[in-house]
Amino acid sequence: MALITVGPVEELPPGAVKIVHVGQVVVGVYNLAGEYYALEDRCSHDDGPLAEGDFDEATGVAICPRHGANFDIRTGKALTLPAYEPVETFPVVVEDGVVKVDV
Ligand code: FES
Repeated sequence: MALITVGPVEELPPGAVKIVHVGQVVVGVYNLAGEYYALEDRCSHDDGPLAEGDFDEATGVAICPRHGANFDIRTGKALTLPAYEPVETFPVVVEDGVVKVDV
């Protein structure tokens, strides 16, 4: 695992998501009411671009844009079909005003 820079905190305000590419892995980094979470941007159902879909900041639910499966952004858990397996999550830290994800 390595800390990858996502960007300054100003670029990821509450309610925002930012997608970062780390080699072959694509990660969506979310700000839910000031708390940061990161999910692999690959739906466990059929590899849909999860972080490109809508999400609800209040409930922390991300909706896959391909077939509509819901995921808990905080845990990666699949909440609705057609997905039933979780997506990978990654730790997020803030260092000196910079958001970083451990991938
Ligand atoms: S690829 Fe995400 S629900 Fe099918």
